[in-house]
Amino acid sequence: MPDIIQLLPDNIANQIAAGEVIQRPASAVKELLENAVDAGATEIKLIVADAGKSLIQVIDNGKGMSETDARMAFERHATSKIRNIEDLFHIRTMGFRGEALASIAAVAQVTLKTRRAEDETGTLIELENSAVTRQEPVAAPPGSNISMKNLFFNVPARRNFLKSNPAEMRHIVEEFTRVALSFPAIFFSLHNNTQEILHLEKGSLKQRIVQILGNAHNAKLVAVQQETNYLNIYGFVGKPETAKKTRGDQYFFVNNRFIRSAYLNHAVMNAYREMIALDSFPMYVLFIDLDPAQVDINVHPTKQEIKFEDEKIVYAFAQAAVKHALAQFSVSPTLDFDLDPSIQHLDAVSKPITEENKAAVAASSLYQTFSKKNQAHFIEPANKSELKHWREFYESPESQKATSIGDLTKNGGLADQQQITRMQPIPGSPLQQLRNTYISAHTNRGFILVHQQSAHERILYERYIAAAAGKGIPSQQSMFPATIQLSPSDTILLNDLMEELQGLGFLIEAFGKDTFLVRGTPADTGQGNERSTIESLLEQFKHFSSELKFSKREKLIRSMARQQAIRPGTPLDEKEMRSLTEELFACAQPNVTPGGDPTYIEFKDDYLEKLFGR
Ligand SMILES: Nc1ncnc2c1ncn2[C@@H]1O[C@H](COP(=O)(O)OP(=O)(O)OP(=O)(O)O)[C@@H](O)[C@H]1O
Ligand SMILES: [Mg+2]
Repeated sequence: MPDIIQLLPDNIANQIAAGEVIQRPASAVKELLENAVDAGATEIKLIVADAGKSLIQVIDNGKGMSETDARMAFERHATSKIRNIEDLFHIRTMGFRGEALASIAAVAQVTLKTRRAEDETGTLIELENSAVTRQEPVAAPPGSNISMKNLFFNVPARRNFLKSNPAEMRHIVEEFTRVALSFPAIFFSLHNNTQEILHLEKGSLKQRIVQILGNAHNAKLVAVQQETNYLNIYGFVGKPETAKKTRGDQYFFVNNRFIRSAYLNHAVMNAYREMIALDSFPMYVLFIDLDPAQVDINVHPTKQEIKFEDEKIVYAFAQAAVKHALAQFSVSPTLDFDLDPSIQHLDAVSKPITEENKAAVAASSLYQTFSKKNQAHFIEPANKSELKHWREFYESPESQKATSIGDLTKNGGLADQQQITRMQPIPGSPLQQLRNTYISAHTNRGFILVHQQSAHERILYERYIAAAAGKGIPSQQSMFPATIQLSPSDTILLNDLMEELQGLGFLIEAFGKDTFLVRGTPADTGQGNERSTIESLLEQFKHFSSELKFSKREKLIRSMARQQAIRPGTPLDEKEMRSLTEELFACAQPNVTPGGDPTYIEFKDDYLEKLFGR
């Protein structure tokens, strides 16, 4: 047999590698902005057209590149930022892999114009399919001007995967916001087509937060600042009363790099415990600076996840710093801290960490209480898959025996009707609420436990679907229209959903750049609480954003049903239990929530008897 292994041609290898780094326009935006920051720019402009699908351009006044470097920059593994593996642990730049430009050149048509201040002429270079198609001297201002056109023009499968313009634009604004928040001393602007959507003058961190998240935040920020010789934590958190129903405005930066961390988020949420409602989210913009040797940033292709050498210490400090700040604020609520901008340039840690310091931290009472609890249990899984959850339930032998529910589909769409035994509680049989969460009812072969929240979600879902298909859900005008101000990316989202929301009974008008007037909400929902209704609806909606197969309306209806369903822990009287169970069994698909979780479980007599050994 002949040998069968071959090397892939370079351009294909590059395209495959690019998939790791550039998934969508927003990932290219992130890479280009970070390069401009690394180049020491003090002014950075981002221009996109068509939500980045046709153009992404970044213009900076940074140090520029020599003729040779401009060409080298697009080679894979070509970087000026590290020389050896050791450097990875002293890194102070955003980039280090030498992958970004190579990836971009593999999946878009790229033009770079760049000049170093010391050179008389600049360099123009054009690439397509990873190959240079043109290179010549050019007159150019100092700095770099890089544009990438027609992203994924040569990878149609990827291009087809891109979402609607508003959805991609939201991702871009999110990435832009992250970089802009972590470098308030740099001027940033963002143009979409010909419109300038953000214009951020240089200033303090507080000013930057207010520029981005809205003026309303000005009086609502509490400064956080703790310095130790292991790490510094600084930034701002929202006063407890400003916690919102949407998770949007939460930012953690480690050595100026935005990171996602359920773990650190948990630390902050813990600091707010008992100060805010369980389902609400405080805003925070927090920076942790520590010796780069204490973090590994090379654990994720887009660098958004990192590994701390000792994450428990970081957790304990983050929680303590926020708690401390909140406590101080409640003692002297008028005290207004403006953060000295110089702290942003502080070297992460001047003194190296000693074993002694570490031991001192570990011995602190805070750390002790923290580590005694097995905190891992408290952390929500980042990505709960409804399907998995559902499967586990049905595949476990116990519940198999306990239920008669047949083969249902995850979507709660119509499953194989034949297999579902239509089962009803005996009409008029006694109902009982257990733990303010479940309702027990008799059937002719045992009993069922109805999950009140899941059942209600199913009922509302079918009700909304029917109403939306007919003449729409009626709305109820508010006596006092509420104004809500949203973050830039939520503004895009709400604008995008406006039309669908009208059909579902919301009366909302745009009212200035990032402000909306809510004149009415669907009958029976949210009156007097328009703001949090909209906020939690947006938050729910975002949970669906990766599910391509649902229409906007479907996602909204699912979100509304979930949002409006009665919560566990709500006591129900006899009449309420009766109407809930009756309405559930009148549903087209009573046995699962729209998300595929069971709404009730049946316990058959013979199964119970067997359990008792009878
Ligand atoms: N805007 C810019 N101004 C000046 N030099 C730049 C600019 N963008 C890129 N470079 C140079 O090109 C090199 C390659 O950039 P690229 O983004 O591909 O890799 P990197 O930033 O080193 O690492 P990473 O892949 O992690 O981003 C950089 O190391 C830098 O020297
Ligand atoms: Mg880079």
